[in-house]
Amino acid sequence: MREKASVSSAKISIEANPSPVSEAKRKELLANPGFGRLFTDHMVMIRYADGKGWHDAKVMPYGPLQIDPACAVLHYGQEIFEGLKAYRLPDGGAGFFRPEANAQRFQSSARRLAMPEVPIELFLEAQRALVKADSRWIPEIEGGSLYLRPFMFASEVFLGVKPSSEYIFLTIASPVGAYFKGGAPAVSIWVSDKFTRAGPGGTGEVKCGGNYAASLLPQAEAIENGCDQVVFLDAVEHKYIDELGGMNVFFVFDDGSMVTPELGTILPGITRDSILTLARDAGIKVRQQKYSIDQWKADAASGRLREAFACGTAAVIAPIGSVKGTSVNFVIGNGGPGILTEKLKAQLTGIQRGTVADPHGWLQRGI
Ligand SMILES: Cc1ncc(COP(=O)(O)O)c(C=O)c1O
Repeated sequence: MREKASVSSAKISIEANPSPVSEAKRKELLANPGFGRLFTDHMVMIRYADGKGWHDAKVMPYGPLQIDPACAVLHYGQEIFEGLKAYRLPDGGAGFFRPEANAQRFQSSARRLAMPEVPIELFLEAQRALVKADSRWIPEIEGGSLYLRPFMFASEVFLGVKPSSEYIFLTIASPVGAYFKGGAPAVSIWVSDKFTRAGPGGTGEVKCGGNYAASLLPQAEAIENGCDQVVFLDAVEHKYIDELGGMNVFFVFDDGSMVTPELGTILPGITRDSILTLARDAGIKVRQQKYSIDQWKADAASGRLREAFACGTAAVIAPIGSVKGTSVNFVIGNGGPGILTEKLKAQLTGIQRGTVADPHGWLQRGI
């Protein structure tokens, strides 16, 4: 749909930031970057207009945008985004983990939201151009990386409810440390029985801002109940585990097999897909199927369930230690990280950082 590319990837122009953050200040900031509050010196902006295609691609100084109050995104939320990381490689270069998978998912999100698709190569070139401009911002601390946030929004100035005729595709970069404060050994999960995240035919399987807006109240409820993250049940029967607010979920059993909820209304996570592949490589039986909250509770009580973990780009793999809800309250295993969870995490983070074998060629050199 409307994938007109009048700008080729080689044509991203560069306007260097005339007053970048000083080296001393940057070093101080990078010692403790937190998550998502710190941004680099540059961003990449590419515009789209019906009839003209993608144009005006540039790396430019990071800064505020000026938006007309009637800009379509402010009213109808026609917006999509992605999240991927650039890692410092042992040889001093920088690598991306499966960036073309993010580019493809961005296209599928665009199709669902009636937006133009960003050509794969243009998406990748935007990520490379930004990492090249701001590679000094990749944190050297343990577990650190440069989180890239490509996003696109409807920029037409019009209050009619229809797909916008103009869009802005931006990529910004944020140096990050650990996603969970204190590098939590295991996270606690709140089961939302009042709210659902996505229904069949909805937008659950794409990455649009609206999904996250709807998850904020249930996530706040999780925090109020002393939990780290919310887990959603399916919208039809309110029985089956879908996913967390921002992560997919896996269950590990005493026979060594694993289960993860099937695709449909959940986001097809790139971390989820990578874990499925690594598990199969290791001869682990993994089933993609429905798994109910009642079964989760029963399996945790009987000891059949040994481990559970959440996964996504931001936290990579986070062990789930306990589960709470209005009618459930249980601990998984000993409440800490499980053996297989730790093993998969070490393998995946090793591949991402270029320190362990990468049999599927997932690591792409950025610079
Ligand atoms: C709702 C949701 N599920 C799952 C994921 C994990 O996806 P990925 O592994 O591609 O980061 C994310 C994060 O992007 C998410 O927001």
